[in-house]
Amino acid sequence: MKTIFITGISRGLGLSMTRHFLSQGNRVIGLSRTCSSELAELLDKYPDTLIWQSFDLLKTADIDEKLCRLLPLQTDRIDVFIDNAAVALQNLLHNADNKKIADLLTINSVAPILLTKLVINNFLRHRVKGVIIHLSSICAHKAYIGLSVLGASKAALEAFSRTVAAEYGRFGIRSNTIVAGLVNTGMFSLLDNRQELDFKNNTALRTHVDAQAVIDMVDFLISDKADKITGQNIHVNAGIL
Ligand SMILES: NC(=O)c1ccc[n+]([C@@H]2O[C@H](COP(=O)([O-])OP(=O)(O)OC[C@H]3O[C@@H](n4cnc5c(N)ncnc54)[C@H](OP(=O)(O)O)[C@@H]3O)[C@@H](O)[C@H]2O)c1
Repeated sequence: MKTIFITGISRGLGLSMTRHFLSQGNRVIGLSRTCSSELAELLDKYPDTLIWQSFDLLKTADIDEKLCRLLPLQTDRIDVFIDNAAVALQNLLHNADNKKIADLLTINSVAPILLTKLVINNFLRHRVKGVIIHLSSICAHKAYIGLSVLGASKAALEAFSRTVAAEYGRFGIRSNTIVAGLVNTGMFSLLDNRQELDFKNNTALRTHVDAQAVIDMVDFLISDKADKITGQNIHVNAGIL
């Protein structure tokens, strides 16, 4: 049984991953701002192995002892950290709202760095060869009109993940990113039908990616089969080439 800390578990990929890990007998510690009905069902079904706390990642000043009082991120041994929570913004830069830009960078880049710091301290304290996975996006690698800020936030994570892998590899700690393409979850709704079709037609496999494909990659990366894989960006995006 692994203890897996996941951000953004109220819906989308985070909810699917939480359901998956719990059904496999693992323990999940998670956060999000809201509790969806699906998450509430999981909390009822797994009272002993699912811990959830409402927390807004915009409140970076609280990502320290305060968060550790709300969730057992210091006391309990964590095996895996999945940095999943994020927000998107689709706007040409000159029209974008400054607060939304700053908030996106805080939620998508600053908060994950602070959380990773907490998690690394946990790994070191409990002498765990822990695994970190950041959910990145193809827009860190290719230009998508209107997604410059989202792309910048994910590119920052990829650079961060690589250096964390280099710094903590000697402790057996691994850090990778999964570079998702279009996944049929909440962020899908940003696109209209035409954009969705264009996106699919620009993949080698002419399709989007479903949550299970990402979960399969997460399963692999946290397994011993991936114990020589660190500092990498693994693309799961139906071939955006
Ligand atoms: N879907 C795609 O097409 C796609 C493509 C590439 C990469 N990705 C990446 O995959 C990850 C998951 O995407 P998704 O489509 O599953 O997203 P989603 O359905 O929009 O879910 C986002 C999750 O993040 C949480 N969240 C957002 N802002 C938060 C905040 N300030 N504090 C705490 N939690 C917050 C949300 O919960 P609350 O609203 O309850 O706080 C929710 O649980 C993201 O990192 C995304 O960038 C997705």
